[in-house]
Amino acid sequence: MTSSSQQRVLSGMRPTGKLHLGHYHGVLKNWIKLQHEFDCLFFVADWHALTTNYENPHDIQENTKEMVIDWLASGVSQSSSKIFVQSMVPEHAELHLLLSMITPLGWLERVPSYKDQQEKLKEKDLATYGFLGYPLLQSADILIYKAGQVPVGEDQVAHVELTREVARRFNHIYGREANFEEKASNAIKKMGKKNAKLFKQLQKSYQEKGDYEALKVAQALLESQQNITITDRERLFGYLEGGGRVILHEPEALLTPAAKMPGLDGQKMSKSYHNTIALRDDPEDVQKKLKTMPTDPARVRRTDPGDPNKCPVWQLHQIYSDDSIKNWVTEGCCTAGIGCLDCKQPIIEAVLTELAPIQERAKEYSEQTELVRNIINEGCEEARSIAKKTMEEVRHVMGLSYK
Ligand code: TRP
Ligand code: SF4
Repeated sequence: MTSSSQQRVLSGMRPTGKLHLGHYHGVLKNWIKLQHEFDCLFFVADWHALTTNYENPHDIQENTKEMVIDWLASGVSQSSSKIFVQSMVPEHAELHLLLSMITPLGWLERVPSYKDQQEKLKEKDLATYGFLGYPLLQSADILIYKAGQVPVGEDQVAHVELTREVARRFNHIYGREANFEEKASNAIKKMGKKNAKLFKQLQKSYQEKGDYEALKVAQALLESQQNITITDRERLFGYLEGGGRVILHEPEALLTPAAKMPGLDGQKMSKSYHNTIALRDDPEDVQKKLKTMPTDPARVRRTDPGDPNKCPVWQLHQIYSDDSIKNWVTEGCCTAGIGCLDCKQPIIEAVLTELAPIQERAKEYSEQTELVRNIINEGCEEARSIAKKTMEEVRHVMGLSYK
């Protein structure tokens, strides 16, 4: 794997419309951090929305726009990342089609989300070709950018694993040109005598003894070579590990820490549980939602003591409050020294303070739809130029580059 692609991070989100604090504390803050460390691509997975919701396409465009506004308002930045929409880069579909030729049906049927989702979403007809293929579409999303790292939640790790297997199979089938061995040997010679010898030693240690350190050193050695072409380097990356030329790069899943942000009822915050605070909820609504959220059921009267561990408000204090407030809560709750409304007050203030700048920026963006459209268009153009390059290579090795 080349360092430039290890440095590339790609992630997508289905267009669900306006986002909530669960998205912010889970995914978005992570993206915002990553965008300063890596070359990041973030996209709206609008085709993915159709795989489970093909009967309701009407909201997709609006949801895409609102979601991108929330990304931008939260701090995902156009200058530090590329923001785009999947269907505006149709090369994803072409790669999906070509990968479908080499992907065994069993690999898709065995992806855990396939059966899980069908059972969970019983009211929907998910016995479609598109739904079965959606993890492979995700593979195409990732592989087309040669992304090294893919931030995903726990439920998506299996999809990244599938992606790795598909890439390996692809490279195995299409990465071995007729005279691969000879081309690899010639490439090694171009590194100069000393490096060539070192490379062969390291390769031997890795292939014969499974010496992982040697592999790393050899990869770094390839990385530092100025005298060989990119194609030769890819050949040698594959040859080093005993495979063919690396055309599609195996990505790693970058597990997003499980969202700490609970919903208003203490369950995971999710639209389908109706327990969310949306990033753009009116401050009055936010207050009302927090004031009416359930507390330890033992505290029926103000004078009844409670136990923070049985209270969803306490979980919010874990996110928003410092030790001194938390001590005040524990003490006050267990002795009935404070009421639940008193206890919620610091959270109400913290949430409103957190949301104020986001809402202000969201308002600015939603008043400038032209600007948002331009941001997406520019992101698409940049993404597309990377995708096009990959497709040229893919078509070439698959015998489809007509000139
Ligand atoms: N499947 C992901 C989801 O449902 C979204 C997604 C699509 C994605 N393509 C991706 C995430 C590529 C990471 C990388 O949440
Ligand atoms: Fe929950 Fe706070 Fe009320 Fe205790 S005082 S039950 S922690 S809201």
